[in-house]
Amino acid sequence: MDLKMNTKNVNLWYGEKRALKGINLPIYEKKITALIGPSGCGKSTFLRCLNRMNDLIPTVKIEGEILLDGKNVYDKDVDVVELRKRVGMVFQKPNPFPMSIYDNVAYGPRIHGITDKKTLDEIVEWALKKAALWDEVKDDLKKSALGLSGGQQQRLCIARTIAVKPEVILMDEPTSALDPISTLKIEDLMAELKKDYTIVIVTHNMQQASRISDYTGFFLMGRLIEFNKTEKIFLEPEKKETENYIRGLFG
Ligand SMILES: Nc1ncnc2c1ncn2[C@@H]1O[C@H](COP(=O)(O)OP(=O)(O)O)[C@@H](O)[C@H]1O
Ligand SMILES: [Mg+2]
Repeated sequence: MDLKMNTKNVNLWYGEKRALKGINLPIYEKKITALIGPSGCGKSTFLRCLNRMNDLIPTVKIEGEILLDGKNVYDKDVDVVELRKRVGMVFQKPNPFPMSIYDNVAYGPRIHGITDKKTLDEIVEWALKKAALWDEVKDDLKKSALGLSGGQQQRLCIARTIAVKPEVILMDEPTSALDPISTLKIEDLMAELKKDYTIVIVTHNMQQASRISDYTGFFLMGRLIEFNKTEKIFLEPEKKETENYIRGLFG
């Protein structure tokens, strides 16, 4: 099992408030890692550390190491734009840009310098196919992305993320704003995507975590209480806190 990313003793503060406490969590290549835990326990904060999205919040202080292929992403010589190309992110609420479907997917490749029309056409088709959206939109590429349904918008956002060929995809509750059918489509899509990508997903949906992930980390009040293979976490958790949380939610 190869490590794609690793995190060592990560501590994070928002001003005086400590939000992450000594997190050590490995992220295995071409696997799905789920982060679970009650609201406010630091899941999103941790996810945002992985591609330095927390840099955008001025009061944040971070300690520890976040390694991507063994190199600390917080090293001075790391180019953050390049990092976010390698470690892409999909948000909770679908956030397509107010432009055409085509331009949404071509956005990243254009920023990274691709201007050739034929190359862009190929990337757009490839990414929309990968995101299981092509058949639904191939005749409407020039139409506004804002006209798509919520589930289609989220798949478009996934297409936009993979269009720059990332290595790791971070997803923060990507289906919590979607209906059950769209949710299942995205879950199927994730199972397909993990053949090529390493995925880290925050979810408050226990069934979703147990259905789709290979590894699960349980967070509580800024700490990683337990990390293990998903079936182990759900069937034989080692810590009392994990057991209580999982029992409580499964009823
Ligand atoms: N931008 C921010 N500024 C200050 N505090 C924040 C910010 N974002 C999150 N927090 C706090 O950090 C803690 C962890 O939040 P978060 O990572 O969003 O948890 P989760 O995703 O598990 O619900 C919470 O107490 C939250 O209020
Ligand atoms: Mg969150």
